[in-house]
Amino acid sequence: MVINRLLKDTIPGFLFVLAAIVLFYSCNSSDKKKEASAKTEIPNVSKTTPKAKPPPYIAEGKKVYRQVCLTCHQANGGGVPGLNPPLIKTDYVLGDKSNLLEIIIMGSEAELARDKSEYANVMQGYGMLGDEEIANVASYIRNSFGNKADPITPREVAAYRSATKK
Ligand code: HEC
Repeated sequence: MVINRLLKDTIPGFLFVLAAIVLFYSCNSSDKKKEASAKTEIPNVSKTTPKAKPPPYIAEGKKVYRQVCLTCHQANGGGVPGLNPPLIKTDYVLGDKSNLLEIIIMGSEAELARDKSEYANVMQGYGMLGDEEIANVASYIRNSFGNKADPITPREVAAYRSATKK
């Protein structure tokens, strides 16, 4: 009888402890599974090649663009309808380098500007910028806003200026 009562008293406690142990181990093992799956994901991540560092003219050109060009051509290069043209995939931006340098240095007074501009604003020339700043901003717009074209070097700017006296 004494043993019977003893069992009655201890069995619920025992079951409780057992349940706790089972619960603990099942949680623990699912944690381990999670850990294991996290571990297997790491090689996948490292397989993707790290992005190449952008060339310095991107950051340098962006500085000039923000200070000088952004108010008109906007941060995304989209321009302002009726006022300032977009710089996205246009012939001036992506095409012949001397056309782009001419409009940056001479502004929209450059003869190459459209016969009848649909844009009300006037773009002044930025010939007061240094060769390096012009090269950087030109290279920046040629490689931003979805544009892709080879950069323009400060040497090319200097050569353009000495050839055209601009
Ligand atoms: C005051 C506003 C203003 C500022 C500032 C300005 N632009 Fe312009 N930009 C214009 C306008 C207006 C035109 C269009 C001229 C025309 O149609 O005759 C233009 C035209 C251009 C074009 C030719 C557009 C095309 O069709 O591809 C380029 C390239 C350009 N700008 C680059 C720049 C760069 C680079 C800077 C900064 C160094 C700059 N602009 C600063 C107003 C501005």
